[in-house]
Amino acid sequence: MKFFSEVHAQNNASQLSKTAKLRQLVRTEGGMKAGRVVIRTACQYGMRMCQRIEKWVIGRSFDWFYGVDTYGLIPLGRLDITSDNLVHGNLYGPVVPRIFNSMMSELHIPDREFIFVDYGSGKGRALLLAAWHPFKRILGVEFSKELHDVAVKNVATFRRTAGVGENVECVWSDAAKFKLPDDPVVLYMYNPFGEAVMQGVIDSLCRSWHAHPRTIVVLYRNPTCGHLFERTPLFSAVSRTQHYSVYTTPSHAKLAHAG
Ligand SMILES: C[S@@+](CC[C@H](N)C(=O)[O-])C[C@H]1O[C@@H](n2cnc3c(N)ncnc32)[C@H](O)[C@@H]1O
Repeated sequence: MKFFSEVHAQNNASQLSKTAKLRQLVRTEGGMKAGRVVIRTACQYGMRMCQRIEKWVIGRSFDWFYGVDTYGLIPLGRLDITSDNLVHGNLYGPVVPRIFNSMMSELHIPDREFIFVDYGSGKGRALLLAAWHPFKRILGVEFSKELHDVAVKNVATFRRTAGVGENVECVWSDAAKFKLPDDPVVLYMYNPFGEAVMQGVIDSLCRSWHAHPRTIVVLYRNPTCGHLFERTPLFSAVSRTQHYSVYTTPSHAKLAHAG
């Protein structure tokens, strides 16, 4: 009983402090401004709810429709990862198709000449969505064997149910150890890891580009390490939105100056 009365008192206190804050806002800024703040907060809350509903409804129906299993949020601690980079990795969560398609619409390249690589491909939702584009090859790199195995199964199922995906390959590897193909590439990342691993990946992209100068486009969803690309002379930002950033290597005219 004591526990419930304490919780009730805490709830009341937080309610009161919100009401008190609102009263103070009305006193200092006037009713109009306070009203705007309330409406803005309600809209932000509503939008967050809509995004959650979209993730659930679209995610579940995608899986159901194609007979695959890509839905869910899985903390990496629950998986079978043995890599030292586990501590730098971010949890599994599949991309929302609308946002993936919006990122793909930023590409103004001849898809057929490019290899698509997903760094941290998880259960493979992005690989399946990329399969509808005419890339030369599509590679997914994932360091959890459990997630990799699910992705392999999903790709096989998708070939039957969607009729695409013959060129999709899943690679069980740490992204830090993955050797990038020498072809033009589109690198897709959905916030897979933190700075320590991302800096190593960027350094290896630079080495790979210097050995084989070509177009490297980076589609970076939820770009928490975007600043590392921003300060790498080889890459320039071509797009920054609320959800993602796009970086690319320079045109051949600027090759000589790229670092
Ligand atoms: C947010 S999920 C993205 C899943 C998928 N790319 C998508 O868009 O649907 C991030 C994934 O990165 C993987 N990951 C994290 N660090 C990694 C590393 N060093 N090497 C390979 N995969 C890694 C995680 O296991 C997780 O599956």
